[in-house]
Amino acid sequence: MSLKAAKIIGLGSYVPERILSNQDLEKMVDTSDEWIFTRTGMKERRIAAKDECTSDMGYQAALRALSDAGLLSTDLDLILVATLTSDYDFPSTACLLQHRLGALNIPAFDLQAACTGYLYALATAKAFVESGMYRTILVVGSEKLSTIVNYADRNTCILFGDGAAACVVSSLPSQKSLCIRDISLGADGEQAQLLVLPAGGSKNPSSLETVSCGLHYLRMEGKEVFKHAVRRMETACKECVDRVGLKEDEISWLVPHQANIRIIETIAKRFELPMERVFMTIHKYGNTSSSSIGIALDELMREKSLSSGENLLLTAFGSGLTWGASILTVEKW
Ligand code: ACO
Repeated sequence: MSLKAAKIIGLGSYVPERILSNQDLEKMVDTSDEWIFTRTGMKERRIAAKDECTSDMGYQAALRALSDAGLLSTDLDLILVATLTSDYDFPSTACLLQHRLGALNIPAFDLQAACTGYLYALATAKAFVESGMYRTILVVGSEKLSTIVNYADRNTCILFGDGAAACVVSSLPSQKSLCIRDISLGADGEQAQLLVLPAGGSKNPSSLETVSCGLHYLRMEGKEVFKHAVRRMETACKECVDRVGLKEDEISWLVPHQANIRIIETIAKRFELPMERVFMTIHKYGNTSSSSIGIALDELMREKSLSSGENLLLTAFGSGLTWGASILTVEKW
């Protein structure tokens, strides 16, 4: 059986209206616009409304991706949602989205790889499409990180924002097409405690005690995570570039996970890419975890006019630890 080529045929994203600026954060914790901007590259992030949850943001991004692909939800064969802030532990956010979209009875499930979630979901969609098991798949990364951030902890509260991204992956003929050439993924569970939501799961079920100790907020050892992020993303990018058989100067755009400008600059330097060739949203959205590279990819394809044959290098890193990279080649857009 010959493999069918998996392509991204539509993209969409959504960020909530409310802006949380560095100046706002200065009033909440002992920090400064200057510290945040020079250490992270962030100026603003978006915060979802109280009654707006992960599936609501995913729904908006999904509608945009379907419209971009010129498809209806009834054309879909499967829905995948990457998130670490699902509406409920169960049912999955993917099932809620399936109902909301009216994509009756098609399979739907969540997967969780933290900030690498979009790439893990894209790899899963690629494998399903190439095997012929499903033809057209909606991939969504959506996060309401503001629900697990402690806004009294200056080490973490400055970093994260809310938002969603979606793409349609298919083997069908289409108006738009970004070929998913390869995806390289990795994980290291030994470092799981470096970035963790300590309570609320089966190890430490929620209780008055876990809440009063703040264990329902994410905890991160920033410096350690930083070191692993640089090393792992570099290796994943190199592996992916080599596997596709590209030379490093054949990459047109780097679309990195938007966690820290200093991490991004190090990776760009390693691949000899000038910063004008690195697509950034970090200054306006911060780190939106599993939606971060999806939002950046959507904005890149809307704002720049890319030619057929241009190669994009995507890379992400997150809790787990998890990491990954992917090469996409523009066919037509
Ligand atoms: N404002 C002012 N000072 C601060 C702030 C702040 N917001 N936050 C920390 N500081 C202080 C610290 O307390 C420390 O002070 P001390 O020296 O007196 O102890 C000092 O600044 C330096 O702190 P560091 O933690 O060493 O700062 P660093 O340069 O490492 O930057 C940061 C911290 C931005 C978190 C960085 O380590 C980072 O980006 N890490 C990687 C994050 C990442 O990649 N995450 C990806 C995955 S996210 C996911 O999967 C959900």
